[in-house]
Amino acid sequence: MKFFADTAEIDDIKELAATGLLDGVTTNPSLIHKSGRDFMEVTREICGIVDGPVSAEVVALDHATMMKEADVLRKIADNVCIKVPLTMDGLKTCKALTGEGTMVNVTLCFSANQALLAAKAGATFVSPFVGRHDDNGFDGMELIRDIRLIYDNYLFDTEILVASVRHGIHVLEAAKIGADVMTAPPSVIRALFKHVLTDKGIEGFLADWVKTGQSIV
Ligand code: E4P
Repeated sequence: MKFFADTAEIDDIKELAATGLLDGVTTNPSLIHKSGRDFMEVTREICGIVDGPVSAEVVALDHATMMKEADVLRKIADNVCIKVPLTMDGLKTCKALTGEGTMVNVTLCFSANQALLAAKAGATFVSPFVGRHDDNGFDGMELIRDIRLIYDNYLFDTEILVASVRHGIHVLEAAKIGADVMTAPPSVIRALFKHVLTDKGIEGFLADWVKTGQSIV
């Protein structure tokens, strides 16, 4: 499963990219606002750090303006992936852009039928928001299971990008279901490294190593 960081914070992206485990980045207008950075400038910077897809979202609601915005955004770098909302105009834009060889991430997906439409529109990625789904009394992971089943039934190439990930259990379940990608805030990715027994084990080994009086280098 690919790991994307859901952030526009450069320091976090650099730190995660240095592990070699980061496959891409997703941003959205709220994350750009939170970063306090210029959209074009920060997107260019992220694209220079990460080789994989970097999602940059259009803000227009109509197809014609979405195409104009996408045209500006895709010129930033070859690894820009245009993010469009799951609306009729968004999917029309998705069809046109992927037809031209541009990667598209269809975002704000909350039903398996919407995911079916995104795949039919040729989306590179579809982003079901599991956390927001859970927040509203639905089962986010059930949604991922349904989309996986439908995509496998018809051999759609669209990758399931599990978004709005809140904790490690979302990551674990997404991997068990066979989602292609998950995008999570840096704090959630960092937490995946942690286990109390790993820390305790290191502590014990180091204490005994000191007692040997030896050094490796
Ligand atoms: C995905 O691309 C979105 O940016 C993101 O996962 C939304 O997550 P949130 O529900 O935590 O805002």
